[in-house]
Amino acid sequence: MEQSSMDLWKPIKVIRLRVYRYNPKKDYFPEWREYEIEVSRGTTILDALLRIKEEIDPSLSFRYSCGQALCGSCAMMINGRQMLACRTRVLEVAHGRDLVELRPLDNFPVIRDLACDFTSFFEKHRAVKPWIIRKDSDELDNPTGEYKQSIEEYARYYQFTDCLKCGACYSACPTTATDHAYLGPQALSQAYRYMVDSRDDGFDERIPIVDTEHGCWRCHFATSCSDVCPKYVDPAQGIQLLKKLIIRRKFGLKPHRPAEVLPSKIGEVKRR
Ligand code: SF4
Ligand code: SF4
Ligand code: FES
Repeated sequence: MEQSSMDLWKPIKVIRLRVYRYNPKKDYFPEWREYEIEVSRGTTILDALLRIKEEIDPSLSFRYSCGQALCGSCAMMINGRQMLACRTRVLEVAHGRDLVELRPLDNFPVIRDLACDFTSFFEKHRAVKPWIIRKDSDELDNPTGEYKQSIEEYARYYQFTDCLKCGACYSACPTTATDHAYLGPQALSQAYRYMVDSRDDGFDERIPIVDTEHGCWRCHFATSCSDVCPKYVDPAQGIQLLKKLIIRRKFGLKPHRPAEVLPSKIGEVKRR
């Protein structure tokens, strides 16, 4: 191992992790508990939580799966901001101090400690029918070929396919905080993703779902959602384009011309 990569794992500082603890089934109030652990330059928040659970307090609850920013399970509030625990290094967020604060995502009910209940989030996701809807059921039952798509058609929705369903955008949205029936940035941007997919026939089926009191018109375009997305998806942009699609439909205009859909080239999409 090279010296530089060994240094990444050498303990260099003791950090206090201030962690929100709450079991709604038995606690009257949440409380904060502090844990001291030695961290290296490479220690992530998830590493630190796993160490606390294994060595200090096995009762600590949090959620994770892939450990590599792919599944979206480990999103939480880290020093007040929605971030993925598995790819956030402790020392990066400590900013020279010795304290980092962890609490569950805003706008979600708490199951226990840092683990939230995603039931409503996923119900809203499912409500917009996040799958390709086809009218040619004979072809679906007995396929005779592929549903082809040009690179320009793919680029209309490409960035939204990166969504991890981590809930960070939903947690950061001020409209979700005040209107619990609001579909939210993740579901609405996914509705847009399917409504501009050239293979999809479900445009008219989704209009009554998103063109509602708690649908896209509740979005005030504050863009807090896009600001926190760990995959650089831009749900705020998706919602504004969705509004545009609906308005064009109401005025009898054709849907988007590809040039109006951003990003229009795959190379322009930022990736992690
Ligand atoms: S759009 Fe981004 S922040 Fe929102 S759920 Fe998907 S990956 Fe997470
Ligand atoms: S842009 Fe819309 S969806 Fe995103 S945070 Fe603001 S109100 Fe919520
Ligand atoms: S554990 Fe999968 S994204 Fe963090």
